[in-house]
Amino acid sequence: MDRFLNIMMAMDAKNGMGINNTLPWKLNEDERWFLSISTTTKDPLKRNAVIIGRLTYESFCKYLTKSFVHWHFIVITSNSLESIKANYEQSHLDAVRSFDEAVRMARGFLDDPEKGIESVFVLGGVQPYEQAMASDLVHRIYLTRIFAEYSCDTYWSNLNLSQFRRIQRSKDEILAELDDQIIEENGVTYQFQVYEFDGKQ
Ligand SMILES: NC(=O)c1ccc[n+]([C@@H]2O[C@H](COP(=O)([O-])OP(=O)(O)OC[C@H]3O[C@@H](n4cnc5c(N)ncnc54)[C@H](OP(=O)(O)O)[C@@H]3O)[C@@H](O)[C@H]2O)c1
Repeated sequence: MDRFLNIMMAMDAKNGMGINNTLPWKLNEDERWFLSISTTTKDPLKRNAVIIGRLTYESFCKYLTKSFVHWHFIVITSNSLESIKANYEQSHLDAVRSFDEAVRMARGFLDDPEKGIESVFVLGGVQPYEQAMASDLVHRIYLTRIFAEYSCDTYWSNLNLSQFRRIQRSKDEILAELDDQIIEENGVTYQFQVYEFDGKQ
């Protein structure tokens, strides 16, 4: 399989990612970036598929339902699709039992024009991220580096970017606004970093 997965994530200075099933921070510009990258499609009739763990999906149901129209969710869970649907009624939602099943489904969506899926993002939590990185299927990593420490209960400590190279603003329209700028919001500094697989160790 070609590399068709995009990972999107934010991490604090100690690799912290979450607390109490939500984000430890409220950073408006990061949220705007996250929504812009993960929902944008070149074809306005298409949407992006997102592979996501059940807990992260449940937090999306609390905070991000306005954007649900732009995504097709593939939720990894041992629960039934009906119980997942009970969180928020919507039609663009599948439930699968494993990361591998999620990947097979996403690949099938890309290969079937009738499904109308343009890109595939892995949006967490820790296990889906780790399995994506171990899969040899990751094309790009969109990483928000936050230069501050938060109280967290979810960490991803072994992110290895040695086979990826950092890329700058590119002709790719989705990255047209990327630059090296350090953003400051309410005294917290952070930066958007984008990495692409280049196969070198
Ligand atoms: N900073 C960021 O970029 C970022 C991104 C995403 C999430 N987060 C934060 O991270 C926290 C949630 O992450 P998390 O890692 O604790 O949970 P998660 O992956 O979102 O959800 C865990 C649940 O998903 C299912 N699951 C996930 N991976 C699986 C796998 N490979 N195989 C089988 N089932 C799998 C299981 O569901 P069942 O129990 O139903 O079987 C498991 O209990 C929240 O605080 C969230 O806000 C942060």
